[in-house]
Amino acid sequence: MSGQQVTQSRAADGPVEYNPYAFAVHDDPYAVYRRLREEAPAYWNNELKFWTLSRFDDVLEAFRDFETFSSAGGVALENRHPVGEPMADFHQMIERDPPNHTGLRKLVSRVFTGRRVSVMEDEIRAIFNRYLDGVIEQGAAEVINDLSSPFPMDVICSILGVPEADREDLRLCSDQIMVRTDGSIEIPEVAMTGMFGLLEYFIADLAERKDGKRSGLISDLMEVDVDGEALTEPELLGFCILFVIAGHETTTKMVANTLELLSRHPDQLAAVTADPSLVPGVIEEVLRFHNSTQYMHRTLTRDIQMHGATMREGDSVLLLIGAANHDHREFGPTAEEFDIMRRPPRHLGFGYGAHFCLGAALARMEGKVAIEETLRRIPDYRVDHDNKVRFHSSNVTGWRELPITFTPGSREG
Ligand code: HEM
Repeated sequence: MSGQQVTQSRAADGPVEYNPYAFAVHDDPYAVYRRLREEAPAYWNNELKFWTLSRFDDVLEAFRDFETFSSAGGVALENRHPVGEPMADFHQMIERDPPNHTGLRKLVSRVFTGRRVSVMEDEIRAIFNRYLDGVIEQGAAEVINDLSSPFPMDVICSILGVPEADREDLRLCSDQIMVRTDGSIEIPEVAMTGMFGLLEYFIADLAERKDGKRSGLISDLMEVDVDGEALTEPELLGFCILFVIAGHETTTKMVANTLELLSRHPDQLAAVTADPSLVPGVIEEVLRFHNSTQYMHRTLTRDIQMHGATMREGDSVLLLIGAANHDHREFGPTAEEFDIMRRPPRHLGFGYGAHFCLGAALARMEGKVAIEETLRRIPDYRVDHDNKVRFHSSNVTGWRELPITFTPGSREG
């Protein structure tokens, strides 16, 4: 295309606009991201008052520079608040900057190391197979409700020590919390109901745990201290809410996104079905190419200049993970293609720096197990693309309903 044609097509399209709540963007955010990277690498949305960074190096540097790009003003745009003034009821480590963040992170990081997670592989596989057993004789399933949503909720609840009977209610609350209204930054009633549901549950759970009869990570956290002080109730609640939401929503979407993407790339699906050792590479490519987490929010602690723009102290900045992971400057000319044989040395699917996803090893293991078992037990699964329904959120991308059919198999007993 000549330079003149490029200018004309830009003029016809008008200036690039990006609103993470616009449902029309959710089907293909990558077209807008492309324009942001090339035309407005420091983009300002004047209606909702936020900046975006979309180039790989910029997003990476912003994740690294927590002193300038603070998490203490909230990590989702709709939940932003003045830096250092967290919600009254619960305080999450994800909304703290080092050094305030460091002690809390240390408390829980040992639970989620690669070694600890690998010990859980058999249990994780058994959990996923229980859900596959529930549908395998029917020859049809709805991936989200039957498989990919209850599965990670069971895994994280078994780590936390939440009784089985309570998990379905928590899952429904967690799903509600992410729901958003088309184009609007306002948090809808249904999402507030979900959040209050989780809070109510864990306030009661913490009270019940005082008799020492329940075990699991929540009970362990009630026993520990940071610099000689026990965790406060808002800190304990913050951990419970963070683990349930972070451990559930992203992984639910990642497993379903993988099955949906593979179904649209039949050659790659055939390759990984024939050779399950390719599964970890598939998961890594999904995390890069179509990550369930599309952005994280930060608040500027000082004025800075980027790409000719002056960004002011207190401004909101969205670090567009989804855009950075498609940047040809980092991933070369095929950056916008899905390729399970790609082996990039790095991507930003789990963020970077102090808040790098605590559950990355667990998420990778859950993804590996779910895809290995699905391809082993229902290798001819077909997605009903006409009846899949998108889940609309601001920073999480995936499906609300993903129907599949397959040749019925037998339960493993
Ligand atoms: C595909 C699945 C997942 C994706 C894409 C994902 C993505 C992310 C990202 C991008 C961050 C960085 C947040 C920031 O910089 O503000 C993060 C943080 C976090 N993730 Fe994940 N995550 C996934 C699964 C999980 C799981 C299974 C857990 C379960 C424990 C988990 C727990 C956390 C926690 C606790 C943090 C905050 C860490 C901190 O503040 O130090 N995540 N995740």
